[in-house]
Amino acid sequence: MSAGGILYGGDEIGALVFDVGSQSLRVGYAQEDSPKAEIPAVVGVVEDGGQTASIDTPMDVDVKPDTNNVTASGNKYFIDTNALYVARKGMEIQSYMKEGMIEDWDLFEKVLDYTYSKCIESGSEYHPVLMSEAPWNIRSKREKLLELMFEKYNVPAFFLVKNAVLAAFANGRATGLVFDSGATHTSAIPVHDGYVLTHAIAKSPLGGDYLTMQCKQFLQENNIDIIPPYMVGGKEAIKDKEPPKWTRKKNLPEVTQSWHNYSVKKVVQDFQQSVLQVSETPFDEKSILNLPPSHYEFPNGYHQDFGCRALPYSRGSVVQNIANMQPGSGISGAVTLSTRGQHV
Ligand SMILES: Nc1ncnc2c1ncn2[C@@H]1O[C@H](COP(=O)(O)OP(=O)(O)OP(=O)(O)O)[C@@H](O)[C@H]1O
Ligand SMILES: [Mg+2]
Repeated sequence: MSAGGILYGGDEIGALVFDVGSQSLRVGYAQEDSPKAEIPAVVGVVEDGGQTASIDTPMDVDVKPDTNNVTASGNKYFIDTNALYVARKGMEIQSYMKEGMIEDWDLFEKVLDYTYSKCIESGSEYHPVLMSEAPWNIRSKREKLLELMFEKYNVPAFFLVKNAVLAAFANGRATGLVFDSGATHTSAIPVHDGYVLTHAIAKSPLGGDYLTMQCKQFLQENNIDIIPPYMVGGKEAIKDKEPPKWTRKKNLPEVTQSWHNYSVKKVVQDFQQSVLQVSETPFDEKSILNLPPSHYEFPNGYHQDFGCRALPYSRGSVVQNIANMQPGSGISGAVTLSTRGQHV
């Protein structure tokens, strides 16, 4: 047996791990340190496949029109970062996730097809699968997933585990309180002896997406245009805070509002990941003012230093929000925000 191999029924196998999230699907081999691929949890859908047949790229899941990836209606699907990045006429962005659970099974299946063919490059029947699920996943969805994995993908073994339990085990504990802040929600999950105490889950709809929305508002209030890279044909070097000098790309295809919004969100997320930081100490304006500013350049060439500014969102406010909610109240619980903590 080679290093890292697992024996299953006498054969050496590579078990696969799928971590399903609202932002992305992480997939890789068990025992490796990091996922092999991180695939956005959205799919680009062009409804009339006939019109776009000539603009396929190797990243498309349906390279050949005769594969089973093209549905009877002729829809075309564009999966993964590169394929989603390209401006295409009529491509709508759709997510297969809702409230942390899989909602659109057709789209999810397309992403799994892509994962096996382009990322894993091996038959699904050779690899047992460990998949994570939201702690509040429901029985009907679990049954549907099992059916899909066994009947379509013929996986030899399948294990569905709540992501909070995996997080606890990964930290060497079978019991603990797991605090998970993702894209669409933040939750506190009590885990006891490897089981989630479902009735005591508290969750709030405040997550990374909310923070992205706050950043977008902040940029708009400061009259900073968020121009996604696909619109920029050329730009000139300018000085700090000078109005940007850029030209619009010519012959752009007629893109959809959903894809444009997705491209804008990517720019804001990059800004968010480059500039924002969570204060390591309780909020204190004087010490925060001493932090060095971060310089950021937008795709249209506009750039400036971003110094200290408190955003109305913070780890503290989420903790407070979670603490205020009754366990089991779901994401409809009241949201209260503090105005301190996160600094731009
Ligand atoms: N360096 C960073 N700085 C700030 N935010 C970040 C950074 N990296 C990722 N994020 C944010 O984290 C979120 C993604 O987190 P995560 O991958 O845990 O979500 P997920 O598990 O896919 O979604 P969910 O748990 O909501 O179903 C996104 O909103 C993203 O913008
Ligand atoms: Mg998550």
